[in-house]
Amino acid sequence: EKGGFEHFMLKEIYEQPKAVADTIHPRIKDGKIVIEELGLSDEDIRKISRIQMVACGSAYHVCAAAKYVLEKLSGIPVDIDLASEFRYRNPILSEHTLVVIVSQSGETADSLAALRESKKRGFPVLGIVNVVGSSIAREADSVFYTWAGPEISVATTKAYSTQLAAIYLIGILFGEVRECISREEADHYIQELLKLPEKIQRILDEKERIQWLANKFSHTKDVFFIGRGLDYAISMEGSLKLKEISYIHSEAYAAGELKHGTISLVENGVLVVGVATQQELFEKEISNLVEVKSRGASVLGLTSYGSYSMEDTADFTIYVPRTESCFATSLAVIPLQLLAYYISVARGLDVDKPRNLAKSVTVE
Ligand code: M6R
Repeated sequence: EKGGFEHFMLKEIYEQPKAVADTIHPRIKDGKIVIEELGLSDEDIRKISRIQMVACGSAYHVCAAAKYVLEKLSGIPVDIDLASEFRYRNPILSEHTLVVIVSQSGETADSLAALRESKKRGFPVLGIVNVVGSSIAREADSVFYTWAGPEISVATTKAYSTQLAAIYLIGILFGEVRECISREEADHYIQELLKLPEKIQRILDEKERIQWLANKFSHTKDVFFIGRGLDYAISMEGSLKLKEISYIHSEAYAAGELKHGTISLVENGVLVVGVATQQELFEKEISNLVEVKSRGASVLGLTSYGSYSMEDTADFTIYVPRTESCFATSLAVIPLQLLAYYISVARGLDVDKPRNLAKSVTVE
């Protein structure tokens, strides 16, 4: 059942190259992105004035990344909300807002309630869902299925990765239709997208180094994940993954925000994971890492091959292959999943079924 893997989580981590490929390939036809299931004509896409994304947990972290990606590729402003907040805050939605609900299970109570609330107000709802025929899939006006296959481990990995892939596809499609990106640019993005599965595989092939780092840091008490831009969105996911299955206290921070309070917690023994895949923000991120290091933190840098100056500051560095900066989340998340996994294993915990948690949260 676990296909020779010790846990479902590791099996699912390893299924990511295929899951991402399976999500992308059916939506590319003759070199163009075609997503018929959206049920949106070019005219409809041009009319969208705003995208409101709503989700919980890791699916919300996809929304956090999507804000950067969709705004950059499509030029449409994106708002994001936690479903448990959105449903009770009486959100102001302007005309031609497209509501997007992201959910692996399609059964999360708060996300489903957010969907119903949006529909009641007359807004079209697109579901990005993994489980076929689930409540959110049935009730949404249109459904983009992520073809991740069944996900058993409570900690999501492959569903998260396929949700990101869905966002890239929608971003490129909307961007080209709205002329925010040219045909040539769209083509370039599609080519880069098609290379992601192989790049994810390359990271998986280097898992021993992450395993070694996990053993080294498995007794750490406090971990901060910091990043800027998309690297902040990845940090949120890395932090949740770690706390969820290792029970180590961890927080994600926008790197520039640390000095507004949180840096007072940084001292000897604290681990700071600095994510820096975004070239234009690299130096800013490094200066934040210098600050935490001078206060006694151990620094684990996560960046792309080529950015070797990370080693001047970080105590340890993990490299991932280079890609388009707006797709970097898909690569940087892999070592963070592996780190959380191997730390949980090193601590002898129940990786697939962490305490107090359910795979799908059907109560509010
Ligand atoms: O099924 P959903 O995608 O709606 O679930 C949302 C969250 O409960 C889920 O992502 C949760 O945060 C994961 N266990 C994180 O690994």
